[in-house]
Amino acid sequence: MTVKGKPKKASGGSKGESLNVGIDLGTSRSAIAPSKGSRHLVDSYVGWPKDFVSARVLGKPVLFGAEALEHRLSLDLYRPLQHGVIKETTDREQEAVDALIGHLLETVDPEGKKSLRAVVGVPAQALTQSKLAIRNAVSDSVDALMIVSEPFAVAYGQGFLDNAMVVDIGAGTVDFCIMHGTVPNDEDQRTSLKAGDHIDEELLEALTDRYPESSININMVREFKERWSFVGKPERRVQVEFPIDGKMVTHDITDELGRACESILPALYEHTAELIAKFDPQFQDAIRQNIILAGGGSQIRGLAEHLEKAMTEYGPAKVTTVSDPIYAGADGALALAKDMPAEYWEEL
Ligand SMILES: Nc1ncnc2c1ncn2[C@@H]1O[C@H](COP(=O)(O)OP(=O)(O)OP(=O)(O)O)[C@@H](O)[C@H]1O
Ligand SMILES: [Mg+2]
Repeated sequence: MTVKGKPKKASGGSKGESLNVGIDLGTSRSAIAPSKGSRHLVDSYVGWPKDFVSARVLGKPVLFGAEALEHRLSLDLYRPLQHGVIKETTDREQEAVDALIGHLLETVDPEGKKSLRAVVGVPAQALTQSKLAIRNAVSDSVDALMIVSEPFAVAYGQGFLDNAMVVDIGAGTVDFCIMHGTVPNDEDQRTSLKAGDHIDEELLEALTDRYPESSININMVREFKERWSFVGKPERRVQVEFPIDGKMVTHDITDELGRACESILPALYEHTAELIAKFDPQFQDAIRQNIILAGGGSQIRGLAEHLEKAMTEYGPAKVTTVSDPIYAGADGALALAKDMPAEYWEEL
């Protein structure tokens, strides 16, 4: 299947400049980091105009990211990943995956003249199940491919190769990965579905219960969360505006927001402790003192401190957060692309 605008791979003998790219394919945001040129980020939405009127109004055959979300009422809107897995049960869903990846590649190679080698990081759950969909999506434009789990890409990029654990808190999933000086296998990884989307759903439910007459929606609560998220004691009361019966009113949502953010904690503690406990006892203390949080959800205030305190019950613990959660996955995938020996690449 071809997608309009998707870069075509350079054919025959006239291959252009070669370029390594790291791609982080996420449920809510996807990013690309090229070995030369600038990085790009897009919200993981793809939308096609619903009919000829919307096509005319929008003036584009397909919209991506924030622009697609903004015009969602005139679009058939797709989020290609859900719960950390690529959805491709219909042609349109596969097309949405193709279009999103094509859009990212186009930002680094608009003319499709370069010979691209791509490392794609996906949520751990998607690894086996979604390989085919990703391969199909890039086969027209990429020469060599490797698909890795996102927490592994983050760990590699940050240089945490031994006795460390990466916890990537995304929208669809929280992915856990232990690094012990080798490429991690399935045993070293876990996935929990209680991630950012779950917080949004909990917050929406709590607010609609409290204000049944409000017309609050999931995108509004996500914005509140991204601005004010916290666990534990709030630094200040959280006051936001949303309409009741069509009229804007200020509401104090501190308690609801705190509870919604804390709803991911039990699974977070449990998976972290369980994965470390399974490991060789001689190394457990070292891993527990080298836990790294990544992903958009790592920005929740107080989260690292809470996880550290919970893990201290088992022994000494230290939890830190990556400095650039938005690009840590794509940067790590790019670092892997640069270092990857030939036998790991799949030629396309
Ligand atoms: N400041 C913030 N506080 C809390 N949550 C945030 C913040 N900023 C972003 N998020 C949340 O982080 C999640 C997105 O993180 P990220 O971009 O790492 O996920 P993703 O890679 O798209 O998802 P996944 O890895 O599950 O596929 C979303 O749920 C988003 O609402
Ligand atoms: Mg992610």
